[in-house]
Amino acid sequence: MAIITVAHTKGGVGKSMISWNLAGAFNGTILDLDFQRTLTRNNELRKQFGLKPFKVLEISSPDEFLSAMKKASLSEYIIVDTGGFDDNLVRLAIAYANIIITPAFENNSELFGLQTFADILNEIQQQINHEISSCVLINRAYHNATNFEVIKSICNSSPKFRLMNTIIRDRSIYRKTFNAAQTIYESTNFQAKSEINSLKKEIEQRIVNAIKECI
Ligand SMILES: Nc1ncnc2c1ncn2[C@@H]1O[C@H](COP(=O)(O)OP(=O)(O)OP(=O)(O)O)[C@@H](O)[C@H]1O
Ligand SMILES: [Mg+2]
Repeated sequence: MAIITVAHTKGGVGKSMISWNLAGAFNGTILDLDFQRTLTRNNELRKQFGLKPFKVLEISSPDEFLSAMKKASLSEYIIVDTGGFDDNLVRLAIAYANIIITPAFENNSELFGLQTFADILNEIQQQINHEISSCVLINRAYHNATNFEVIKSICNSSPKFRLMNTIIRDRSIYRKTFNAAQTIYESTNFQAKSEINSLKKEIEQRIVNAIKECI
């Protein structure tokens, strides 16, 4: 079992969009921790549109989260979509994760957004007995942008963050497919598919590396 928690206390950075497409990439189970139920609702739409639905569990409490963990099979990929806020449930999903993915934008407001999130990661770490850090995923990067100095400098200066090699660009196809309750794999967009494939590979590699570090 691998638990991929997509989390950032900042709203609207692409947590649900990334979680949705990761569920497509890994054929994973979605745990929907956001009271807005974005992915639960999109999955309902999938059914209405005659598409094969994902397994989506609505989780509202730490007990429900732990019970879902107990029931998960060894080969299952669990994708946890969290809301853009901080509570005990989100903290539990962060503490349990094999990998934490934090989508972020290349702009100055991330200096504050990611600092807030780093403080939360530090607080969680004090309550559990292993180091945690989050993989920062640049999302909605402008078409040709190559300068990501804001995000790079945050990641270089905080032990809580590791910058991912994968970059997700701002592409209307991500919105179009999501609004049609599809993943990027149900589109013909080669570039977006290769971005999500690259993200999948990088996640697999980082999970393997983290296991090796523990041995
Ligand atoms: N790479 C992208 N390209 C284009 N649009 C994107 C991209 N990533 C996210 N979006 C769009 O940005 C909006 C916000 O994304 P999303 O709902 O996934 O954010 P969120 O972090 O889950 O927000 P919340 O904190 O409210 O749960 C959505 O309309 C989504 O389709
Ligand atoms: Mg969301």
